[in-house]
Amino acid sequence: MPGAYDRSRREAVVRRVSPNFDRALSKYFGTQTPDPVAAQGSHDAYVMALRAHGTDVEILGALDSHPDCCFVEDCAVMIDGVALISNLGAPSRRGEEVAVAKYLSEGSDLLRMPQDATLDGGDVVFFDDRYLIGLSTRTNQAGAAFLTEQVKEEGFDVELIDIPSSTLHLTTVCSSPREGTLVAAEGHLTQDQIGHLADEILWVPNSDSYAANTIGYSGDRVIIADGYASTRQIMLDAGFSITTVDMDAIRQADGSLTCLSVFNR
Ligand code: GLY
Repeated sequence: MPGAYDRSRREAVVRRVSPNFDRALSKYFGTQTPDPVAAQGSHDAYVMALRAHGTDVEILGALDSHPDCCFVEDCAVMIDGVALISNLGAPSRRGEEVAVAKYLSEGSDLLRMPQDATLDGGDVVFFDDRYLIGLSTRTNQAGAAFLTEQVKEEGFDVELIDIPSSTLHLTTVCSSPREGTLVAAEGHLTQDQIGHLADEILWVPNSDSYAANTIGYSGDRVIIADGYASTRQIMLDAGFSITTVDMDAIRQADGSLTCLSVFNR
């Protein structure tokens, strides 16, 4: 139901880091080979942060054959309790969605995409009464069109946003931590693209672009990545209470906070 998104985030599914995380896709934020052990440490801290905010977290087992398997956000998009299962945009990642779909099917109906459509959940920001959908190297026109059709049937609006080649996904540089508010990264998105969408846009500097990916909870609580002082101050000034998670090891494979979970309730 449009406008009903209260960000209480009662349940989430996550997946442990692959032992082969050193082979995860890494093109944008990585400065060194991803380290599976360090990344699992960040992942553990992340799960603790979600649980501390009241989320019931289901943890799926890792896959040797899929180095990017911890990035479950890409595998599904929730639409009013129904799970749209992605055709992942990166060929090496296809198959990650199988166990996520199996888990989600225990509590939700599943929707499948047409074969020619690709979509990563990382290109979708659910923003109150609308879905913001990024057109990126992972999400094609057919994928965006399929999601658009589904969410419009449920009464939500859609905004398509072109993602620049400097950026992996929409959620890489944009998130909505509370009703009416977007956080966005300068140098990746522009006021012309998103200025008309929100009452409040908290622009973080390009040097902090990684920190534009936040997880908001009701009561103006937000989880942000540790180590981004400008973003931390912007969020404090906007009235949020902040929890930080050290995401450096996850960042090496271009993953951000939201990439690690699907909030299914
Ligand atoms: N490493 C995350 C991705 O490229 O999908």
